[in-house]
Amino acid sequence: MGRFVVLSALGLWLLGASMEAQEAALEAPFTQGTTVIEGADRRPQTSLDGAWHVIEDPYFTGLYSFHHEEKKDGWFLNLPWQQGDQKLVEYSFAHSPTLRVPGDWNTQRDSLFFYEGPMWYERDFTYHVSAGKRVFLHVGAANYKSLWWVNGQKVCQHEGGFTTYDCEVTAQLKDGANFVVAAVDNTRHADGVPTLQTDWWNYGGLTRSVSLVEVPTSYITGYDLHLDRATRTRLEGWVQVVGAVAGETVTVSVPELKGNTSAVVGPDGRALVSLAVPGLQAWTPEAPKLYTVELAAGSDAVHEQMGFKTIEARGTEILLNGKPIFLRGVSIHAEAPYRTGRADTEKDVTTLLGWAKELGCNYVRLAHYPHDELMTRAADRMGLLVWSEIPTYWAIEFSNPAVLAKAKQQLGEEIARDRNKASIGLWSIANETPATEARTRFLTELAGEVRRLDDQRLVTAALLVRSAGPNEKVVDDRLGAVLDVIGMNEYIGWYEGRPETADTMRWTVAYQKPVVVSEFGGGAKAGLHGAAGERWTEEYEASIYEHTLPMLAKIPQVRGMSPWILMDFRSPSRQLPGVQDYFNRKGLISDQGQKKAAFGVLQQAYRAGYGRAE
Ligand code: GCU
Repeated sequence: MGRFVVLSALGLWLLGASMEAQEAALEAPFTQGTTVIEGADRRPQTSLDGAWHVIEDPYFTGLYSFHHEEKKDGWFLNLPWQQGDQKLVEYSFAHSPTLRVPGDWNTQRDSLFFYEGPMWYERDFTYHVSAGKRVFLHVGAANYKSLWWVNGQKVCQHEGGFTTYDCEVTAQLKDGANFVVAAVDNTRHADGVPTLQTDWWNYGGLTRSVSLVEVPTSYITGYDLHLDRATRTRLEGWVQVVGAVAGETVTVSVPELKGNTSAVVGPDGRALVSLAVPGLQAWTPEAPKLYTVELAAGSDAVHEQMGFKTIEARGTEILLNGKPIFLRGVSIHAEAPYRTGRADTEKDVTTLLGWAKELGCNYVRLAHYPHDELMTRAADRMGLLVWSEIPTYWAIEFSNPAVLAKAKQQLGEEIARDRNKASIGLWSIANETPATEARTRFLTELAGEVRRLDDQRLVTAALLVRSAGPNEKVVDDRLGAVLDVIGMNEYIGWYEGRPETADTMRWTVAYQKPVVVSEFGGGAKAGLHGAAGERWTEEYEASIYEHTLPMLAKIPQVRGMSPWILMDFRSPSRQLPGVQDYFNRKGLISDQGQKKAAFGVLQQAYRAGYGRAE
């Protein structure tokens, strides 16, 4: 008996130990060795964009042995395959084809259209290292997991397909000839953010620009400069310095306003700054004023272009610079106009935002993930408030602590990159998530994280609405209690009822908070015409808008909208031949730039001052 007791106790201990090990393994994040250098795009960069050699590696042979252990002689060594010592090498970047970076692989080669798996990238580059400098690889985004090596040495790895990150390569760089290797794997994961199901194309690869950024050993890694909400006459915030020597000072100046201040860096590397800016012209969509802002610390300097505004919620109003505003908007996916694929050029983003301005928008919802930084820089310049969102989309694993950690990581990277963009008005923590206990706990934590990182914007989420009868809709998702602005998606006339169903729909919103209708709309094939009652015609889509706009105008809390969606976009679940052909056709404009009838309906409403609060 005694032996049995001892053995079972040992067994329980071993079981517990192995579960702890699994727990620990579960919590060990994939992302390692990365940081975010805020304002990196405002620093001199060595671009690594262009043609990279690529090797499709569906079994990840280049990284893992047949027993799934990481190889020490993986393809990241970039060995030549003709060897004097006849070592067996079964790959060759130099003899492999190339793909363009930035760019998803799906739209660059027909055979890669549906490819989901690992892809190797390699390019050679020359670099001249300066003494006393630190060098970082700056990655605009890589979807979904990415691993990086410089001159055959591992430098970092990252999970998340839409956020910008930096990893240090100072120790691995040589003066002169170098090579960099990346492995990017767009395989979807149940415990991913997003998870397995999305209504957008899983464009894989180095989908945004890659460069090298050089900073002094003591450099500015982050800053937050915002207009104080109380008086709107001072800039307040902080500058974060890495490697600062005790007593080092930072200076912040706004030459056009003759504003200048300096502050001493504390032991935590942070300097709190505040400077009076009499005469500052607050940023607005109609007058998107940007100022040159010089930040300096020791030998480091960042030359920013920044606009300043305040945004807050008061009762059911959204106040921009203290005045009520109605957000006349539209939702946008990062789909490249005309050529399709990920939007990753200046022309892509100015085309998309140009259409939004032409529509009469003062606001855009960048769905469902942080877009290229080119997009938010363009929104700053062109005057469009932005709803920015991380892809906590539909039914992610809300009970999994590792998934919460991933969502927090992506949120932190998103906010670090864009917290100083005037255009950012709302940080969205979710889209259409099931109202379970686990989801509400998860997102309540995320809402707190947003406010910890940036308490100058509004926290929102796109909620599902509840039917309380054939003509009754209720918005009472408990998550609303922790939001500043209630986002809600509805599809009356498309997924339920007919366009005229909207005429008799009654709405109850359980919150006295501003509501933004984050999605509504329907599909149409551009150029397909028929009776307004005929689905997929432009007339049917237009009819949804004609009946929805008056319905939403009757909801007293509605203070904005971003109909779904500006432009048709690719999705694997939209397959109706001759109509969808793997495109979601709810665009007001086709992927080839054809404006549909609904574009004119919304444009007319916006130009006539729909919802005008001011
Ligand atoms: C959902 C979802 C979108 C999707 C849209 C649609 O609301 O948020 O991502 O594309 O509806 O069904 O077209």
